[in-house]
Amino acid sequence: MAEKGEKGTRTVVLGVSGGIACYKAVELVRLLVREGFAVQVMMTRGAMEFVTPLTFQALSGRPVATEIFSLTQESEIGHINLADQADLLVIAPATANIIGKIASGVADDLLTTVLMATRAPVLIAPSMNVHMYENPILQENIRKLKRLGYHFMEPVEGYLACGYEGKGRLPEPQDIVEQIQGLLKKKDLAGERFLITAGPNHEPLDPVRYISNRSSGKMGYALARSGVRRGAEVTLVSGPTSLSPPAGVRLIPVQTAAEMRQAILQGYSGATAVLMAAAVADYHPEKFVAKKIKKGKGTLRLNLKPNPDILRELGMKKNGQILVGFAAETESLIANAKKKLREKNLDLIVANDVTKEGSGFDGDTNIATLLDRRGAVHPLPLMSKDELADRIYDYLIALKKRREKE
Ligand code: PMT
Repeated sequence: MAEKGEKGTRTVVLGVSGGIACYKAVELVRLLVREGFAVQVMMTRGAMEFVTPLTFQALSGRPVATEIFSLTQESEIGHINLADQADLLVIAPATANIIGKIASGVADDLLTTVLMATRAPVLIAPSMNVHMYENPILQENIRKLKRLGYHFMEPVEGYLACGYEGKGRLPEPQDIVEQIQGLLKKKDLAGERFLITAGPNHEPLDPVRYISNRSSGKMGYALARSGVRRGAEVTLVSGPTSLSPPAGVRLIPVQTAAEMRQAILQGYSGATAVLMAAAVADYHPEKFVAKKIKKGKGTLRLNLKPNPDILRELGMKKNGQILVGFAAETESLIANAKKKLREKNLDLIVANDVTKEGSGFDGDTNIATLLDRRGAVHPLPLMSKDELADRIYDYLIALKKRREKE
C-alpha cells in the first residue's frame, strides 16, 4: 500500500508522452490507484494520439491535464499546483523527444513546465526504438539528467512495435510501481546486505519426479521487495517458484537444499543479515534413479536421507550477522519456535501456524508471532506478507539499535 505521509495519501503525478507504450501507462494508473496512491495524469499532445484522456480520467478519477494555455484547466488544475502536489513525478513512457527537452531545460508544454517547477523526485521510464535508445545524443541526455538527480528505469529488451528486437520496451507496469514505492520509502535499511531465501526445494527422484512442499515463495519475495524498497542490497536465493524477482534484487535460482546451502554459504560472510523464509527440504531421496521409475504392482519404498540444516550451520558460524529464521508449525507454535531459536542460535524467529486460515503457505497473507532471544514474544494479527516483511524489518532495526547500546 502507498504509505500515508503527514499530508495523507501519496500523490503520483504521471506524465505520459507520445509513444506506442502509452497503453501500458493505462495499466500503471490502475495499479497505482489499487495501491492507494492519488494519481494525477498529464498528457502531451503526442500521447493523446495513442490514448484518450478519458481513459486515464476514468481510471484515476481525476480530470487529466493536457494544456498549459487553457483557462479552465489552469484554474481547475494549475501547473504549479501539479508541481507542488506531487510526492513523485513519473514520466512513462518517456520519448527521446521529452528526455531531450528536459535535458535542455525546454518548458514549452504542460508536462515540461510542471517538471521544471517541481521539487519532487522524478522517475523517467524511457520507451522507444532500439536505435533511438542507443543514439549517443539520447545517452548523453540521460547521463546528464542522472547527474542532476533524475531517476531512470532501463527499458526492457524484446520485440518492439517498430518491428525491431532490442532494448526499448517500457518496463512492466508492476515493476514501475515497485520502483515508485521504493523511491517513496524511507531508506532506513541503507547499508544493509541481506541474504534472503524463499520457496521450496525440488529434490529429484528420477528424471521426471521430485519431492517438494507447498511453499510458493511469496513470503521470501515480500521480504526481498520490502528490503530493496527500504534501501538494502538484497540477494535472493530462491527455490523454484512462479514469481518474478522484485526489481533491484540479485536473484540466485536453486533447486535442491544442497544448492541452496552452497549459495548461502558463499554469500554469508558478506551479509549483514540472513532471513530464511524458504521451506528447506528436510530430506532428499537417497538415490537418484537415472531412468524414469516404472510403475509396478506392489508398494514402492523410498529411502530418504536428511539434508543439512542450513540455518543451524549459519548459527554455528555466526560472525556479527543477524539471523532470522521462520518456524512453520502445526502444533505448539511458541514452544517449538523457542526451541528452534535457541538450537539454531538465531536473533529472531518468525513463527507461523500453517494450519490457520490466512497463515503460512501460498496465500498473500500471514499470521505470525515474532520471538527474540531475550524471550520477547510479539503476536501479530493477520496481515499481508508485504506488511509482515515491513514489521520484521522494523523489529530488526530495533534489535540492532539495542545491540549497539549494549
Ligand atoms: O513461501 P510461502 O508460500 O509464502 O510460505 C511461507 C512459509 C510458510 C514457507 C514461511 O512463512 C515459513 O514458515 N518458512 C519456513 C518453513 C520451514 O521450513 O520451517 P521449519 O520450521 O521447518 O524450519 C525452521 C527454519 O530453519 C526455517 O527458517 C528454515 O528455512 C530453516 N531450515 C530448515 C530446514 C533445513 N534443512 N535447513 C534450514 O535452514
